[in-house]
Amino acid sequence: MLPATLTWHGEGPCLRLLDQRLIPAEISFVDCRTFEEVAIAIENMTVRGAPAIGVAAAYGVALAANESPDLIPAAIERLSKTRPTAVNLFWALDRMERLYQKLNASGALAYVQIEAEAKKIHEEDVRINRAIGAYGQALLPMQATVITHCNAGALATAGYGTALGVFRAAREAGKTVKVYADETRPRLQGGKITSFELSQDGFDVTVISDSMAAFLMSRTQIDAVITGADRIAANGDTANKIGTYALAIAAKHHSVPFYIAAPISTIDKNCPDGKHIPIEERSGDEIRAIGGEVILPQGVNVWNPAFDVTPAGLIAGIITEAGVLVPPYGNQIKELLEGRA
Ligand code: MRU
Repeated sequence: MLPATLTWHGEGPCLRLLDQRLIPAEISFVDCRTFEEVAIAIENMTVRGAPAIGVAAAYGVALAANESPDLIPAAIERLSKTRPTAVNLFWALDRMERLYQKLNASGALAYVQIEAEAKKIHEEDVRINRAIGAYGQALLPMQATVITHCNAGALATAGYGTALGVFRAAREAGKTVKVYADETRPRLQGGKITSFELSQDGFDVTVISDSMAAFLMSRTQIDAVITGADRIAANGDTANKIGTYALAIAAKHHSVPFYIAAPISTIDKNCPDGKHIPIEERSGDEIRAIGGEVILPQGVNVWNPAFDVTPAGLIAGIITEAGVLVPPYGNQIKELLEGRA
């Protein structure tokens, strides 16, 4: 059985995170009892994936509230500095902040309410992913062959997954889904985490290195490319794991529909387009070495953006819990967000 990405233990309290840095070699957990421990776990990618980061951050605020409600603002500030691209982090912190302000103003600030909000964000995520899956699976034929990039599965969320949730829902609808998983240089989320998650779940999964996807499309009937997202701008431009953009270009060239599967909380209405999405740059050491072995000559420069931006024009549809948005996105995204407001 697939281990849970994160579990909350009210007694203590403690947030238990599956250590995703070690999958598949080791299944072990990291216990966080302070907001600082949660912040470090997000930074060092013990927990990763946009929705999972948001849920972890919400629990980080709950841990601060348990210590002292006075620590909540500092916790929100610290957690907001951990990773810049996935907007779900800021969305979850914003929700916690609004509740904090409300409770504080009314003099009713108490740990129990802060904890309840974090639990709500956690539970909602699984429900949302199932709805994304239900809409997304309708886009796939009875016998589907798909490509995905990075890990947008149960392990990147509170459970079920977004892109991988679509594959799960298709299977639940009686379809067969053969998945090609991009290995996803440099952190190898596809090779290590997606292939682990899907094979544990009995899927037919084949790992390819990122550079093979275009050639695969030229030789094999691919029905769809589906990935998750870290931030969707108001015009539909979408940031996701580095390599997604190249995959979308290859899909366009081969007339393969390229879909994004993401919760509405991944849409940033304050971000007009992809140019305004902050892109995390990580240490060059992630490129310099593979499996601990240094592969580059000493002193060679490295550029290591963790995400790229796929222009809206390459995206055939954005699968959300409220349905599938199709281009042109402009007004639909605005209306969807206004409808939810
Ligand atoms: O750097 P990561 O592993 O946090 O990046 C994860 C991704 O890019 C995922 O595709 C994205 O967060 C969507 S997860 C449902």
